[in-house]
Amino acid sequence: MKIDILTLFPNSFAPLNESIVGRAKDNGKIEISITDIRTFSKDKHKKCDDTPYGGGEGMVMTVQPLWDAVSSVKKRNSHIIYLTPKGETLTQQKVEELKEKKHLVLICGHYEGIDQRIIDHFVDEEISIGDYVLTGGELPAMVLVDAVARLLPNVLHNEESFKNETFANSLLEYPQYSKPAEFKGMKVPDVLLSGNHQEIDKWRKEQSEKLTAERRPDLLKTK
Ligand code: ADE
Repeated sequence: MKIDILTLFPNSFAPLNESIVGRAKDNGKIEISITDIRTFSKDKHKKCDDTPYGGGEGMVMTVQPLWDAVSSVKKRNSHIIYLTPKGETLTQQKVEELKEKKHLVLICGHYEGIDQRIIDHFVDEEISIGDYVLTGGELPAMVLVDAVARLLPNVLHNEESFKNETFANSLLEYPQYSKPAEFKGMKVPDVLLSGNHQEIDKWRKEQSEKLTAERRPDLLKTK
């Protein structure tokens, strides 16, 4: 998969060079390219924002630099996403859908947002990462890239774990323990040491259902 990220703050994306996403990039499982929108501005001061028509607070990212930036990366099979708190909330189901795309273009907004003509002309969907407002779309873009990258083939070692992880089957994941079996008097539940896989599966399913009912009853309703 190829991902193009369009931003006014290209230095924000250093975290994508770390850990699992960094390794996926190095191994060629995912290609991530960061484009500085400012380099496309035809303004003599490389200005990329201006006041909103109709008045109001703040600044809007202007149409020309973004138009040229999107045009420079857009291909026939591109899926273009604008990260905005006004978008549809990102879910694991949406991430599963996005992992099938060949080319994602992520537009990071700033200030009071981007000129609507970019959205109307280019954008396939608007995505929010949650009901809170951030200073820009850079962190949301990284959240989206991370969530998609880990689902690509051969990025994680144990793809089996997808079956049980949180949100698979609309359930939160059961509690996990590792060695030692006892630490500062706190014991790992006996069933997990029993070697009885039927009992372990039963315990895990019960724990998942209990946790989901307590914390996210909304997920049970969608089952
Ligand atoms: N930009 C600012 N806040 C955002 C959010 N919650 N999701 C996506 N993009 C954003």
